[in-house]
Amino acid sequence: LNDQTSQVPELPQHVRPEHVIDFDFYNDRRFTEKGDVHDGLLQLNSESTGIFYTPRNGGHWVINGYELLFEAARDTETFSSRKMVVPRMQHEPTYIPIYLDPPMHWTYRKVLVQAFAPKMVATMEGDIRRLATELIDAVASRGSCDFVKEVAEPLPVKIFMRMMGIPLERFADFREWVQIIVSSSDNAAREQAQQQIDEAMAAVIRQRQESREQDLVSMLIDCDIEGRNPTFDELLGYCQLLFVAGLDTVMNGMSFAIRHLARDVELQRRLRADKSLIPDAIEEILRRYTFSVPGRLVMRDVQFGGVDLRKDDMVLLLLPAADLDGRVFDTPEKADIARENKAHIAFNAGPHRCVGSHLARLELRVIYEEWLARIPEYWQNPDKPEKIHAGHVYGVDTLPLCWAV
Ligand code: HEM
Repeated sequence: LNDQTSQVPELPQHVRPEHVIDFDFYNDRRFTEKGDVHDGLLQLNSESTGIFYTPRNGGHWVINGYELLFEAARDTETFSSRKMVVPRMQHEPTYIPIYLDPPMHWTYRKVLVQAFAPKMVATMEGDIRRLATELIDAVASRGSCDFVKEVAEPLPVKIFMRMMGIPLERFADFREWVQIIVSSSDNAAREQAQQQIDEAMAAVIRQRQESREQDLVSMLIDCDIEGRNPTFDELLGYCQLLFVAGLDTVMNGMSFAIRHLARDVELQRRLRADKSLIPDAIEEILRRYTFSVPGRLVMRDVQFGGVDLRKDDMVLLLLPAADLDGRVFDTPEKADIARENKAHIAFNAGPHRCVGSHLARLELRVIYEEWLARIPEYWQNPDKPEKIHAGHVYGVDTLPLCWAV
């Protein structure tokens, strides 16, 4: 985490000074001061739990209150998904269906709802477990590893490739492109990696158009969009979204979880002794370390949560802060797996609620189970610092761990 560096422009006329908080969601000083992004958000929540305006990153609103976030996530007439990135980009992508608003959104989303239904996802468990154990076994006898580089990053890449029917021989290429997209600060390198991924996926789509296999791409090619099959560009739009939505997120979900357990040896012991507690741990740790921050574009002048929004304002749904809202979750900083209120918003709410949540939970359950079964009591390596970043998806860049062998 670095110091705050972005420029502070003037306030627009409709923004009242009492609704302004200086907050840089990429690099906020609270993150640096607290030495941790989520602890920085607890600090932010002590200043406001509702909605506020920040002049940073081009100027935008931030919703950090839990109730207001639910309201905004459901009100797609006011809060559109046609623009989601802050600061604004000239040409935002058009991934399907995340950039679409209802009613068109549902036409495209329902295909994925079927593909990622619990029954379909359950058939992937064996493959996921095998891939996870291979990676964990490769580090177990060493007594140390960088969990991100050696487990959390390769695993979802392999699962994605299997799901899309991309041969695993191409793993080294895909992994390199993913590494560049997730952690490089070089925009040109990221664009180039994205282009290479798009080309690889376009090639798979073309191959499957010639001859179908048992994979998601083949299923998408034949799916029904209002009485017709999707066009080539629509197929690419689906694949691009599945790539960005299903890799980075699972990587970070796993890394925040394994990091928490490294710091909470008592919880490690409890989960090892009783596997049936793992689903509760998954939900509570997703709440404690929620990491997605989607943006929205305001579609009309409206009063919302006591502030005046103007058409074309940008709003960030600060889900990680809403899940630390002390009015909804008692002692929000505590990861308490016996907590009664489990209604976190880590997957968002409303029409865009994560369509991959069953798969995400399965991947998380497998990693909790296999990691705890194969690695003895472990902790963060005191000699090697972790690295974490904020932004639209909070991420763990390095997580050095060690254990006795
Ligand atoms: C722990 C892991 C994950 C988290 C925390 C997560 C979180 C989210 C969130 C917050 C959204 C809503 C975005 C918005 O409102 O604009 C979302 C949407 C979505 N997610 Fe996930 N996600 C995860 C894993 C996955 C996986 C594994 C997949 C599939 C491979 C996936 C596919 C999607 C898709 C397709 C959407 C768009 C849904 C729509 O617009 O209707 N996600 N995810």
